[in-house]
Amino acid sequence: MDTTHFEEIFEAKLARNEMIEPKDWMPDNYRKHLIRQISQHAHSEVVGMLPEGNWITRAPSLRAKKILLAKVQDEGGHGLYLYTAAETLGISRDELIDQLLTGVAKYSSIFNYPTLTWADIGAIGWLVDGAAIMNQVMLQRTSYGPYARAMVRICKEESFHQRQGYEIMTMMARGTPEQRAMAQDAVNRWWWPTLMMFGPPDAESPNSANAIKWKIKRESNDQLRQRFVNQTLPQGELIGLTFPDKGLTWNEEKQGYDFTAPDWAEFKNVISGNGPCNRERLAMRRRAHDEGRWVREAAQAYAAKNKRYQAVA
Ligand code: 3HC
Repeated sequence: MDTTHFEEIFEAKLARNEMIEPKDWMPDNYRKHLIRQISQHAHSEVVGMLPEGNWITRAPSLRAKKILLAKVQDEGGHGLYLYTAAETLGISRDELIDQLLTGVAKYSSIFNYPTLTWADIGAIGWLVDGAAIMNQVMLQRTSYGPYARAMVRICKEESFHQRQGYEIMTMMARGTPEQRAMAQDAVNRWWWPTLMMFGPPDAESPNSANAIKWKIKRESNDQLRQRFVNQTLPQGELIGLTFPDKGLTWNEEKQGYDFTAPDWAEFKNVISGNGPCNRERLAMRRRAHDEGRWVREAAQAYAAKNKRYQAVA
């Protein structure tokens, strides 16, 4: 079939910054690109519940426990919005989950690192959620309507998560010498993996050219990484925490900080399934999936029964 006419309509919509909606014609590669990115994003939200969930029973106060519980629950909700957005592209939830559980689909590298102390919960909120928002603010204007709309709500919740983490770090940095040391140790361990979250350098990012062309990503991996460094350094200075990079210096000309690149060999290793916690995270997800089977089946049976009653009434 000659698709030239449809392609013109698609391109014209993108040029006018109009959203592409599920029933619109779209190139196959645009659809595939979105399914890959949105589902990876959904998987990241759901796997991201695990390292933080580890600390719910060990939170240092009832207040901290309530906040962490709410945060972990939010992440599950983000997974739900994103899986739903991906489904509008013609793939089923079961297929997406299967890709995660069989290791075919990726999820964010960051969640393959361990949470060793309570300060790690602070560092995740401050740095990891901070990096996630930096990336996700632009996704509110991504070209695919259901993804953009999901991101509006996600961003609101993520900014609360970032503040929750910064509050923990502020309290620990102002606490006893041991608490301060714990906070510094967490920053030292999370700094480099957080920089990796933005993806490989632009020159080595195979998907970026299409993502920018199709207005899926509005800014590049390197631009967002730079903005994150510029924003985060003063926040660290304010609470007296430092970053483990001797190359960090203010560059007057670019009005931003110079910084050392993370270890990209480590990044490749982690996204190939060989990070410190990859196996543990996937095993835990598989177990949760199996143990939750009866809940899904019961919910489906209940919904089907209600439908039958409605049909009779
Ligand atoms: N972790 C795992 N894989 C990554 C990665 C990361 N941090 N960064 C890049 N990759 C993978 C890509 O998926 C791609 O692999 P693939 O082609 O097999 O899918 C490969 O490395 C090359 O990277 P590219 O830069 O070419 O890929 P993208 O253009 O897709 O950029 C991205 C990567 C910036 C992560 C982009 O996909 C994106 O913006 N995704 C949406 C945001 C997202 O997924 N965020 C997850 C963060 S965690 C989170 O939000 C949870 C919150 O609660 C903290």
